[in-house]
Amino acid sequence: MRRFLTPGDIGDLKVALEDAKLAKNNPYADQALGRNKTLLLLFFNSSLRTRLSSQRAGSNLGMNVIVMDVNKDGWQLETEYGVIMDGDKPEHIREAVPVMGEYCDIIGVRSFARFDNREEDYSEPIINQFIKYSGVPVISLESATRHPLQAFADLFTIMEKKKVDRPKVVLTWAPHPRALPQAVPNSFVEWMKEAPVDLVVTHPEGYELAPEFMKGVHYEPDQNKAFEGADFIYAKNWSSYSAYGQILSQDRSWTVDETKMALTNEACFMHCLPVRRNMIVTDAVIESPQSIIIEEAANRVVSMQVVLKRMLQSIA
Ligand code: CP
Repeated sequence: MRRFLTPGDIGDLKVALEDAKLAKNNPYADQALGRNKTLLLLFFNSSLRTRLSSQRAGSNLGMNVIVMDVNKDGWQLETEYGVIMDGDKPEHIREAVPVMGEYCDIIGVRSFARFDNREEDYSEPIINQFIKYSGVPVISLESATRHPLQAFADLFTIMEKKKVDRPKVVLTWAPHPRALPQAVPNSFVEWMKEAPVDLVVTHPEGYELAPEFMKGVHYEPDQNKAFEGADFIYAKNWSSYSAYGQILSQDRSWTVDETKMALTNEACFMHCLPVRRNMIVTDAVIESPQSIIIEEAANRVVSMQVVLKRMLQSIA
């Protein structure tokens, strides 16, 4: 396994979910696999969960882990080609990436969408340079268009918590004061499409996700109707894809509250975190027994551990 961006990269999802269960029940079983192997975690953007869960997963597997905040700890990196480097960025990513590959066995990279240009963001220029030039396996710690470790953890959490064979899972847009990327909802939809669930997506007009993700997915414009009989409510904000990166609505009638949760089949409430309380979800819902956000975050260790284990096996 040389890269982790999509569900296809991990192969049979059933097997991956079984591996996740094994990793959760016995996190130190594969300590020998990572001995004398180094994991480099690079962050172009902030993180709490991805950073700590990835460190923990690496250490569970016996790996050495190096974490670098590119903006604070290293030279500022120029990522554009053909520019005259007479500004404040003294190193080009084209040299930095293969050098970093010399110091580790696996690289994880977080680099969000920049919102300057949709086609550029959707061509994933940063993580693709790591895949092309690092010489080592690369894991997305959230790229411009995808957050696969989150989606894998979300799927595992749903499989752990489901009370019916084929649960109804609703991805709902909710308001937020800032323009957020589409990476989390894109990956959530991409992974749920492969899973034994009935997925429904609901959002206000103008918030359609990219067609390559939404193809074949049930869209319901009425949020209340979408919530009816749901087993899982997954709330998330994202900015517009069509009016790229723009905030088209901050309509707080889309905030997930107790009245909406009462329409569901006593659904579990999920969010990837960090979450803006009383914008995305009310205090009452996030603190209710139906909220499984902490278990969901805990499973980030599990999803990373499965991915790392497969990569370690492939380079052993
Ligand atoms: N959900 C998630 O990826 O959290 P962080 O941004 O804190 O890593």
